[in-house]
Amino acid sequence: MQKRSGLRRPKKKRSHPGDVSVRALFLVGFMGAGKSSVGRALGERLGWTFVDLDERIERREGRTVAELFRTSGEQKFRRAERAALRELLKELQTGSAMIVALGGGAFVQKENAAGIKSIGVPTVFLDAPVAELWGRCQQQRSSKQVDRPLLIDAQGFQGLYDARRPGYLKASLRMETSGKDAAAVAAEVARAFDLDRRKGV
Ligand code: S3P
Repeated sequence: MQKRSGLRRPKKKRSHPGDVSVRALFLVGFMGAGKSSVGRALGERLGWTFVDLDERIERREGRTVAELFRTSGEQKFRRAERAALRELLKELQTGSAMIVALGGGAFVQKENAAGIKSIGVPTVFLDAPVAELWGRCQQQRSSKQVDRPLLIDAQGFQGLYDARRPGYLKASLRMETSGKDAAAVAAEVARAFDLDRRKGV
């Protein structure tokens, strides 16, 4: 067999658990995964800024995510989501250390995942059995905590989760959150990336 000639490209540096250069972390996963509550807990634990991408979108667009979906449709929402993420990725190059919670559909959009990967920031897929995710979303809906336009019925929820799971699995790390509260998950994430010694950095 003939050997391929030419220079080998240097391997891209990838962030991984234990990487001391980590100055930001993205939380990804399906609706009800606890991305925002874990992100907030982790931000407080580390003294890092917490950013919820959906809140960013709402500020930029002057409308809630649910209003955006209902008045302009999902495509417009995805465009706004991509724009808000691009802006955030730029800030990350120079700004303070950050924990970012993405909305459930953001990381499975190829352009978004590629943008995050290109700056070498690690991603954590917060996972749980779909029945538990559904239960958490129902509870948040009945207490009017979150208005999720894609939360329609259990069958559609399961189908969307199944379709997206391969995308979520491309994250640097998958973390099981079943039966755990936000503080416990935040502690596990901090341990996995050795972040506690980077408090306030
Ligand atoms: C979405 C999830 C929501 C929000 C929007 C779309 C999705 O965020 O971004 O309603 O496509 O799964 P949460 O995952 O925080 O609910």
